[in-house]
Amino acid sequence: MSKKFKITICSGTACYVMGGAQLMMLEDLIPAEFRDQVEIVGSNCLQACRDSSNGQPPFVRINDYLMESASIARIVDYLRKH
Ligand code: FES
Repeated sequence: MSKKFKITICSGTACYVMGGAQLMMLEDLIPAEFRDQVEIVGSNCLQACRDSSNGQPPFVRINDYLMESASIARIVDYLRKH
């Protein structure tokens, strides 16, 4: 069965230094209710940092949605709303 959410965490330099390093702990910190609904993968630069209209790093992609200024709290909030 495929997961409801595919979360791609950017580990490119711009994202990593702007807080992406903390996002790597998402797998451990995600609330239990979402554990079997998400697939979490890492990625090289998602290219979002190249266009300032995308907002601020760190970037995370959740399915087709690009989240800027991503944090674990914002990701969990997004999952709750969807
Ligand atoms: S380093 Fe993350 S989008 Fe480029």
